[in-house]
Amino acid sequence: MFVRNSWYVAAWSDEVDGRKPLARTIIGEPIVLFRAEDGKAAALEDRCAHRRMPLSLGKIADGGRLVCPYHGLTYDSGGNCVRVPGQDSPGSIRIRSYPVAERAGMVWIWTGPPGKADASGIFDCSWLERPGWHDTRLYRHARANYLLLNDNLADLLHVAFLHIPSGGGNEEMGTAELELTVGDDRFHFTRRTDDIPAPASYGRLSNARRNIDRWHVLDYRGPSFYRVHTGVAETGSGGPDSALPIGGGRWAILPHHFITPETERTTHYFQVVGHEWAPSSETRRFLDDVIDEDVWAIEQQQQALEAEPDIPMQTIASDAPLRAMRKIVTRMLAAERDGQGGATAAASC
Ligand code: FES
Ligand SMILES: [Fe+2]
Repeated sequence: MFVRNSWYVAAWSDEVDGRKPLARTIIGEPIVLFRAEDGKAAALEDRCAHRRMPLSLGKIADGGRLVCPYHGLTYDSGGNCVRVPGQDSPGSIRIRSYPVAERAGMVWIWTGPPGKADASGIFDCSWLERPGWHDTRLYRHARANYLLLNDNLADLLHVAFLHIPSGGGNEEMGTAELELTVGDDRFHFTRRTDDIPAPASYGRLSNARRNIDRWHVLDYRGPSFYRVHTGVAETGSGGPDSALPIGGGRWAILPHHFITPETERTTHYFQVVGHEWAPSSETRRFLDDVIDEDVWAIEQQQQALEAEPDIPMQTIASDAPLRAMRKIVTRMLAAERDGQGGATAAASC
């Protein structure tokens, strides 16, 4: 079950062009993305109205129109059929079009009723547009339900164990000071462990000469968006507000996680990591290692859940943000199903 009334990232902007249509399944719906003649991105259902041929297998004709490869029906960016070969007029043939917007180098689509689309509701990406900042972009196709990825990002205890191989975490991070503030469709969460040895990669990248403070400052908004400020700084220098230079006792990143459900069992995971430092092959490798550890974990969970779906999961203290997130998604699903009704729809997978 998916939240429909949301903007989701459909693609990186440079994946969508006027030369070749792009097929992408989002919340279980086959969608074709392309650019019209005016350069604006467009999203249509990926099924021809005639015999349901996927339009993504067709071509983009002069004028930025999408031509079905089977019998040549041609559509404009609004989903209106503008040509039927062998007929004087296409009549009223049309297919569904999705509202589209571009932000921070990504094409976003609204999957709810088009009349409710309001681009001001797109997850705040303004931190990525700070002058002088850089970003590193990562994408993974995860063979797991999107809620398992949501869980992973809400559950930061995992950093102390799952991310030991990449050097993103260490067991000293297992005990932390936590603070959680929950709103209607969002929560704010901080997790701090002060005065510990640096996890391996953070130690190397920060050049910390003594113990560090390790923090996560996380903002979640439903159904599936996270912004995290995370890093290390030499103990006593101010934690997240430390003024030490990057590589001079401090190292920090600002990952933004844009999670787009593909099917009940698969997820498009877009991640844009904002940072003050210039990218290098070493930092790229570190970020790749971290995301691969996360995706590996949720894919293992997905397999275990599919094998034995009825075995309950135990809750532990550090699951509080995860439980808050699940409640938020459940409320969003219920609100869509019942208008603003209060019936419960379980956000489970
Ligand atoms: S299926 Fe598309 S034109 Fe016939
Ligand atoms: Fe992680």
